[in-house]
This record gives sequence, structure tokens and C-alpha cells, in this order.
Amino acid sequence: MERRKVLRLFFVSTLAAVIAPKFSFAQFNQLEKLDFSSLDFGTDFKWGVATAAYQIEGAHNIDGKSPSIWDTFSHKKGSIKTGENGDIACDFYHSYEKDLDLLKSLNMTVFRFSIAWSRILPNGSGTPNQSGLDFYQRVIDACLARGIEPWITLYHWDLPQILQDKGGWKNRDAIVWFSEYANLLTKTYGEKVKNWMVFNEPSAFTALGYLIGYHAPGLKGLKNYLPTVHHVCLCQAEGGRIIRKNVANANIGTTFSCSHVDVYKSEERDGNAAKRWDMLLNRLFIEPALGMGYPTESLPILRKLNKYIQPGDLEKLQFNFDFIGVQNYTREVVKENAFIPYMKGLEIKPVKRGAMEITEMGWEVYPEGIYKILKQFAAYPGVKKIFVTENGCAFPDEVVNGKVNDTKRIDFYQRYLKEVLRAKKDGVNIGGYFSWTLLDNFEWSECFKPRFGLVHVDFKTQKRIIKESGYWFKDFLLSP
Ligand code: FCB
Repeated sequence: MERRKVLRLFFVSTLAAVIAPKFSFAQFNQLEKLDFSSLDFGTDFKWGVATAAYQIEGAHNIDGKSPSIWDTFSHKKGSIKTGENGDIACDFYHSYEKDLDLLKSLNMTVFRFSIAWSRILPNGSGTPNQSGLDFYQRVIDACLARGIEPWITLYHWDLPQILQDKGGWKNRDAIVWFSEYANLLTKTYGEKVKNWMVFNEPSAFTALGYLIGYHAPGLKGLKNYLPTVHHVCLCQAEGGRIIRKNVANANIGTTFSCSHVDVYKSEERDGNAAKRWDMLLNRLFIEPALGMGYPTESLPILRKLNKYIQPGDLEKLQFNFDFIGVQNYTREVVKENAFIPYMKGLEIKPVKRGAMEITEMGWEVYPEGIYKILKQFAAYPGVKKIFVTENGCAFPDEVVNGKVNDTKRIDFYQRYLKEVLRAKKDGVNIGGYFSWTLLDNFEWSECFKPRFGLVHVDFKTQKRIIKESGYWFKDFLLSP
């Protein structure tokens, strides 16, 4: 079951009944003729792909790397339905040169990637592992040699297991561990790398990993979730300060998983439930960074966060980010349900069942949603600039005669990009767009089935085939 559905079901099934979404594959539109070009976004607009260490690297236990929570979780029987894991994934650890050649061949100029913390600090902290540091140095140099800008995410969900054994993000010491890690990375790579993101989607990894146990480390309950939220928020700002201190001329951001939230039927009936979901999904992590504190007004249960807040913390939660990374895939439609006391009636219900376009993740294709969420984030006075740091889709691709004719994906990109351009033309300061993702990869608890890549990967042979959507990007990005 895909992760948003699991999150929804958690909120409803533990607390009351839910009408489980029944999706159907609808017919997708024929490709529309494009009435815009990449130049409409501006000549300084950045185009690239986003990736994450655990999803592509493989090499899970070589050259001194210790296990991360994802190594442990995926090896634990029953955690992942198919029993698959990221031990090898796309073997990017060994194939980064040719994968960056592929990226270059698509006319993309940004490679967003994350660092596996346990590759460079196998003990979580303390003595760095030189082989691990060297690997990322090679990746950075390989990017630069190809005229590709490396954009680094400090943390994309793979905490060293050794730190999880001490409580992980739930332990306030996480601030000390994370600071040491961020210092090491920025001091090591800060000369060559100027674009940095602190976190990937804190609302996703805290809720999925520490509230409902669907992702690593598989923990559940508010007692795990609430301290985790607070410590992650503190690290979010602290990470920003560390990058600012160590990297001259840095462009510093952090990324958020966000979706436009619609009410199911009427504002009057479902409006409050929609507000609560918007708060959990879209507002919980950005507002403290902007100096607005935690948005607890629509979900009083979050006042329990106060238990973990120490004197001086509210100021420490703030950091003046140069940009915010918006990551959008779908929208959410929310219905009030009086039988759900805990979340005060939060139920999420898809609209237009049967007629709705959905991806292999069960996510609704709703291009207007990216326009709306960009406007929502841009409306915060503290948000100076936005990059779309992830957007993309999974469909069941087929290799036929050595080709992957993924029309649905091209259609998705065309329609979403049109909405990004609309937001830009409406005045949202958007600096770039990064597709999720270059290679089909290990899609967390959904394993290898959902294929998001512009490049098809045969996981048995590691053979790569550029999909038609990859060629579409290549042409789109060619200056006329
Ligand atoms: C995002 C994650 C990314 C990938 C995509 C499909 O939420 O950041 O790692 O799983 O979803």
C-alpha cells in the first residue's frame, strides 16, 4: 500500500472507520501541443533531477559504511512487503560516472543528491570514514567536470542505525549529532558546493517513521512523534546556521512535502478537518522556521509539543532560508468525520472516484495543485524564493523493443510544468524545477515497483534505457 494511503488510513482506522479510497486507472489525455518553452521560465532558471542516497546508491556495507535505519528496516522480516531492500538499488555507488553522463545528455544542469550519514560517519559521530568522504568528493567532481551543479541534501531519511539505537531523532542529543555531521559536510565540500538543503520532507519522515511506523525506523505513537518533530525542527534551523557559517556564498534551503488541500463537500462541514490536515502536512515544519511558532491552533493535541520545548528553543527554531524547496505530487481532499475524536474528525476522501487520473502510487494527477501550493507557500512573507525540488510520477512502464514509451509521464510533466509557469508568471519567485527522478529506484516501502525515473533501470542487469520522457526533457531544454 502506498504511503499517503497508509498515512490516511492510520488517522482514520486507528480512530474510527474510513472509506478506503478505491482508485481506478482513468484514460489519460493524449499529449497536448506545448504552448510554452523552457525559455519562458527564464534563462537563469535551473533544471535538474533530485535523488536520495538510500534509493540509488546500493553498496550498503562496503568501504566502511555502517547500517542506516533503512538498512535495518528493510532487512527486518515483515517490514517491507516484497522483502526487497536497497542493498544494491541502482548501484549508483559504482555507476555514478555513467549516470551523470545520462543526466548531462538530457540537458539537465542540476544534480540534487543526499549524503548517506553512515557512509561518512559510521559511528554516527566521531572519526570520519575517509572512503565515504572520498566517494562524495568524486561525485561532486564528476558533476563539476560535466558542467552540472551539485545540490546537496544533508538528510534524506537514512539516519545511522547506531544513533537510532540511542533514540534517534527522539533523543535531544540529535541536535549535537546533526550539528557535527552538518559541520563535517559543509567544511569538507563547502568550497565546491554552494547549494545546500538541510532536510528532505520532515513532515513525511517524522510521521511515517515515528508516528505510524510505515517507514524506518518503524516507530509509532505520539510519544515518539512529538519529540522527533521538535528536535527535527531545531536541527532544521541549526543546519541552516551551520551552512551559513561554513560555506561562503551559500544558497541555503530546506524542502517540504506539500499538497494543496481541498474540502470534500462544503467549507462549513469539512473546512475544519481540511485545516487540520493542512497544518500537519504543509505548515508544521515551515512555520517555526519562519518565526511563527508551531501552528497548534487547528490541532490542539499538538500543544503536547510544549513538553519538549526548552527555554530559548522558540528562537532557535528560526532560520532565514534563502529558498524553500517545494515538493509536490498530488493534492488532498478532506472530509470531516465526527467519529474520529483524536484528530478531531480528520478523514481524507478522494473525490471523483472512478474518473480520477491516478499514478501507480495511487496519487491523483492534479496539475493545478502545484500552482495552488506554490501560491500558498509564496504567501508567507518570510519565503524569499522557491525551488520545486521534487515533482514527478510513477507509472507501470514497459520496455518494448528497447524503448520505454511513457506518454503518461510526458503528459504529467507537460501539465505540471504549465502550472509552475503560471505561478511564476503570477509573480511567485521560482528559481528552478527538479524532476523526481533520474533513475527508477528503491521507492522506500513500495520497493522497486513504482518507477519514477526518466531513465529505466533493469534491476537485474543494471542496464539503463532513457525513457521517452527523458528524451522529452532533453528536447524541451534545448534552446530553440
Ligand atoms: C518523496 C520523497 C522521495 C521519493 C518521492 C516519490 O516524498 O522525498 O524520496 O520517494 O516522494
